[in-house]
Amino acid sequence: MFEPIERVPGDAILGLIEAFKSDSNPNKVDLGVGVYRDDNGITPVMRAVKAAEKQLIESEKTKAYIGSHGDPDYGSHVLRTVLGEDSRLLADNRVSATQSPGGTGALRLAADFIASQLPGKSIWLSDPTWPNHLGVFAAAGLNLEKYPYVDADNRLDFDGMLGALKKIPEGDVVLLHACCHNPTGFDLSQDQWQQVLEVVKARALLPLLDFAYQGFGDGMDEDAYGVRLLAENLDEAIITQSCSKNFGIYRERTGCFIAIAKNSEEMEDVRSQLAITARENYSNPPAHGSAIVATIFNSPELKQMWREELDQMRARINGLRSDFVKALAPHGLDERFAHVAEQRGMFSYTGLKPEHVEKLRDKHGIYMVKSGRANVAGLSSTNLEYVCNAIADVVK
Ligand code: LMR
Repeated sequence: MFEPIERVPGDAILGLIEAFKSDSNPNKVDLGVGVYRDDNGITPVMRAVKAAEKQLIESEKTKAYIGSHGDPDYGSHVLRTVLGEDSRLLADNRVSATQSPGGTGALRLAADFIASQLPGKSIWLSDPTWPNHLGVFAAAGLNLEKYPYVDADNRLDFDGMLGALKKIPEGDVVLLHACCHNPTGFDLSQDQWQQVLEVVKARALLPLLDFAYQGFGDGMDEDAYGVRLLAENLDEAIITQSCSKNFGIYRERTGCFIAIAKNSEEMEDVRSQLAITARENYSNPPAHGSAIVATIFNSPELKQMWREELDQMRARINGLRSDFVKALAPHGLDERFAHVAEQRGMFSYTGLKPEHVEKLRDKHGIYMVKSGRANVAGLSSTNLEYVCNAIADVVK
């Protein structure tokens, strides 16, 4: 039975973890998968998370199921964090949270929801986008389309993007990266978000806002600008959220599918469908990550501790961006890579070509995604010069 099954290459991003592990080069540097690293190259458990876990070990009374929508307390904290404490949508009962196994789980819920409840709608993705967007939406049977995002000079192509959005058939779904665009790191300005809102309204598009990196760009509220603008000014929207990065709980699979509907009646209709979608996929989401997040939000001290650590993580990444450009100056490459300091979030679309990436890996033990996407958090005070020398070597 299994004879005709063909072997396929593994996931291009997750495959880098294994490739890096098995490299014996003592100077190797991992700029691949999107996890935060400190200056020692460690992905730390945040202090507030550790403290919350200690409390949970003592206080947890059951391991019974938490229901298809997950923990309502977690959902309520996520909604307020994403939409803002004073959001009208909360008061009007127009918004619903369904806890999901990570941001990817939320995307899969979105994909299945669109396929079953909005048949015939295509989904429009930025070009480039996170490669797994393609996998998740195709797996649900959706038709994929793309809009331009980056030009040939590795700059944000906002005119190209807006022009393409204006031509999307009315009623289709458009995926927008809420902040910290993955893979490019190019984000929209507030003025550009307003222009996007006008087009989304005019074409009656359904926005799917992928919000996996809140707090990694310019700040928790600053990063939510586009999400809140669209959510407050449209009848309907979907938001897929993740706590993987901003709580550093990647393996706990903690995310949320947020639906915004015209009124509370329609919201309940949508919500009822989502419970079935979740049930058919994985039944109930895992509980540990959401319990950590809720514990932190329910304690002013832990919340403060978490915010401070997240602020430090963001400051470290943004500092590394300018340090990187400065360290390339002696090689005469600072102008060529100046965009790295302007980009936001974990990733930089460096502009390095696949042949550069290959050489960096084979000759210098430096790993990044073939597209030239580098995880800036993988840079450190010890490897920065080594990486910049290696880049100078491969591009010369
Ligand atoms: C990434 O883009 O590296 C992260 O979102 C991790 C992943 O699952 O691909």
